[in-house]
Amino acid sequence: MEKAASDNIVVIDGHEFTFTPGETILQVAQRNGIDIPTLCYLKGAPHTGACRICVVEVEGARALVASCAAPAGNKMVVRTESPAVLKARRLNIELLLASGHHNCLVQELNMDSWTDFQLKSMEAEEHQDLCPAYGDCRLQDLAVRYQVKTTRFEPSEPRHPIENVNPFIVRDFSRCVMCGRCVQACNDVQVNRAISYGYRGIASKIVTAGDRPYIQSDCVFCGECLQACPVGALVSKEDFQRERTTGEVKKVRTTCAYCGVGCQLYLHVKDNKIRKITGVEDVGPNYGSLCVKGRFGYDFIHHPDRLKKPLIRENGDFREASWDEALNLITDKLSRIKDQQGPDAIGVLSSARITNEENYLAQKWTRAVIGTNSIDHCARL
Ligand code: FES
Repeated sequence: MEKAASDNIVVIDGHEFTFTPGETILQVAQRNGIDIPTLCYLKGAPHTGACRICVVEVEGARALVASCAAPAGNKMVVRTESPAVLKARRLNIELLLASGHHNCLVQELNMDSWTDFQLKSMEAEEHQDLCPAYGDCRLQDLAVRYQVKTTRFEPSEPRHPIENVNPFIVRDFSRCVMCGRCVQACNDVQVNRAISYGYRGIASKIVTAGDRPYIQSDCVFCGECLQACPVGALVSKEDFQRERTTGEVKKVRTTCAYCGVGCQLYLHVKDNKIRKITGVEDVGPNYGSLCVKGRFGYDFIHHPDRLKKPLIRENGDFREASWDEALNLITDKLSRIKDQQGPDAIGVLSSARITNEENYLAQKWTRAVIGTNSIDHCARL
């Protein structure tokens, strides 16, 4: 328990915590290890209070308040798991599940724990109709956590067709819960301003300018919206097309090799194949964001045409060679040019598509091994 050191003290679940003015109840709770579930909340973006999953009971308040949007107040007494809070969260989850086509089996299987649910869902035969976000869906997690097995409400009919006309992202509006995270990710995090809210009431939809497909809009396909989507409304094309299975996905952390920025990313690996890539949140330099190459440019890894061996051109045709043979050939040719015409007859062009370390090595090799300062970089072209 934090020591009461100032006037700014909030009591959460019977424990006193200090807060700085402007901090929300959710921020104070998270900072002190109290888990309040969220769905629409996107760290670093202005709060919208759209989903009401994070509601808490505040003594003296007329209604439950959204902790992601409500500032902590001095001597405020908050309960995060009271019966009224749990009832409201369950109702909100029910409403969200009824708001679209969330065929993730949570409503069909009688599960008492996440493990039971997974084991039972693996036995299900209708996997081709499973949501592509199965196992990676915030709404599904919440339904399991709060044991929401059925919904009393009639599921709403899909009103907008699936958009599947670009190479990267599929937009399935029937699964959208209008949480607004994609809009915030696009407008407040990436500041591309390619999407916003459109239409009214039950016809509401996330739209681009003129409600055109992404491919005809200002979208640059950074995929920030995809990463922010907590359900299956935005999925990568690959995820959408692949056969649905419920097997385990392993997350492998690595550094993007596309340029020298060094963005941190997770490879989501299943059956020894990369299924998707997401940015590592809360870690620099990218704090979860990625560009189109880092997020979507990985099909070369498993591509059958990928070059895995050096090629040497002979009589106009390429033939495969070993690395030793190729490196010896390059060494011979460069040595001959250097001996006959001097080191300044050789120039090296480095690349923005390699890491800082590799660029450093390239200039070191050019200067120290070849003996020339003729080293340049494609970014100047
Ligand atoms: Fe607070 Fe959605 S997370 S209202």
